Amino acid sequence: MDKIVIEGGNRLVGEVAVSGAKNAVLPLMAAALLTSDWTTITNVPKLRDIDTFKKLLVHLGAEIAPDTPDGTLKIRTRDVAAPEAPYDMVKTMRASVLVLGPLVSRFKRARVSLPGGCAIGARPIDLHIKGLRQMGAEITIESGYVEVRAERLKGAKIYMDTATVTGTENLMLAAVHADGTTILENSALEPEVVCLADTLNRMGAHIVGAGTDTIRIEGVTELRPVEVRVIPDRIEAGTFMVASAMTRGNVFIKDCPYHYLDALNTKLKETGTEVTEEDGGVRVIGDWPIRSVDVKTIPYPGFPTDMQAQIMAMMAIGSGLSVITETVFENRFMHVSELQRMGANITVDGRCAVVRGVKRLSGAPLMATDLRASASLILAGLVAEGKTEVSRIYHLDRGYERIETKLKALGANIERVKE
Ligand code: UD1
Repeated sequence: MDKIVIEGGNRLVGEVAVSGAKNAVLPLMAAALLTSDWTTITNVPKLRDIDTFKKLLVHLGAEIAPDTPDGTLKIRTRDVAAPEAPYDMVKTMRASVLVLGPLVSRFKRARVSLPGGCAIGARPIDLHIKGLRQMGAEITIESGYVEVRAERLKGAKIYMDTATVTGTENLMLAAVHADGTTILENSALEPEVVCLADTLNRMGAHIVGAGTDTIRIEGVTELRPVEVRVIPDRIEAGTFMVASAMTRGNVFIKDCPYHYLDALNTKLKETGTEVTEEDGGVRVIGDWPIRSVDVKTIPYPGFPTDMQAQIMAMMAIGSGLSVITETVFENRFMHVSELQRMGANITVDGRCAVVRGVKRLSGAPLMATDLRASASLILAGLVAEGKTEVSRIYHLDRGYERIETKLKALGANIERVKE
């Protein structure tokens, strides 16, 4: 298994390009199930989660054209025959449940393994199931699988108790072929939800209100395949912004979706970091001392939970005290104990972490626990004195495309080595 080895202390300087957003690609791949001809998705990053979803689609009977170097993904779902997503696949990636909505919508039935727990919390899919039930689906849960049957889904008014990203996407994917109008209330506002709605509309769906908390979907009988370019990854962009800020760097982040990152921009500016929009991207210039700031994660457009671990690494070397509150997932502080091994002064009480900035972190052997935690350990390694080794980086490869190559090009002393 590979690990990442970093010799800390280098400033990051230069230009880095942001890849396509993983969390936008996955629902688009699920949308390919709604039409039987070739769907083309461009600007697709090379990531493990995307490979997992490809394997799932192939398991269902889809054809996937060979990889192209420019990140074009072509999917044809004409021959999908067995609408079943097995445990082996769903357990490695929760987002596999995104096939539930389109499968039941097109094939009148679906059998998808329940994802179970994951490192950052319980993460149920009860709201996906409740919404499908309200649309008239018959649902049973047996032997760890959710089995859904519906001759024809019916439009319904669905209120989601919690704004859920994949829940909103799943129900939208189910509702495009439903009989009548579906109204999703308290929907997630994330840009990836809007990207999916825009794409479905180009395929012939009638969806209005994506990006607001009420989405209205008029069912249609047929969709046509389209070519779609994936939006840039706001979390990857945000990770590079924090990397530049922490290392007193001067990095131009090309294709940075600045307008999706207001909450992070505001926080970075409060720390004393210069963040400026320039033609084609954003320049981030870091300065020390880093002013400590309080951060609370909130669904979009609030501060993203997917950036919480990275901002914590930055606060670990802040000049004062920072309170970081995680409101989205109940157990998303797995990176704390690893940061503590580097000398960070952090105490956790329930959903709050109190970070007292220290003058220096020291390199250490570390274990990545989940995707964004891995990124935070790498960021900490960039500023630590001495050598940091991050193992279990398969988590990192789920969501960051060649992060070590990109950081190296900015001047980091970082290598991927075989363990
Ligand atoms: C998506 C993102 C993930 C991000 C998260 C929150 C994808 C593929 N993944 O995950 O990177 O961290 O949004 O921004 O887009 N919940 C329920 N019942 C449900 C569904 C969710 O209680 O049926 C709860 C969850 O436990 C969590 C909250 O709702 O507390 C938000 O989760 P959700 O938005 O569903 O996260 P994902 O869509 O899984």
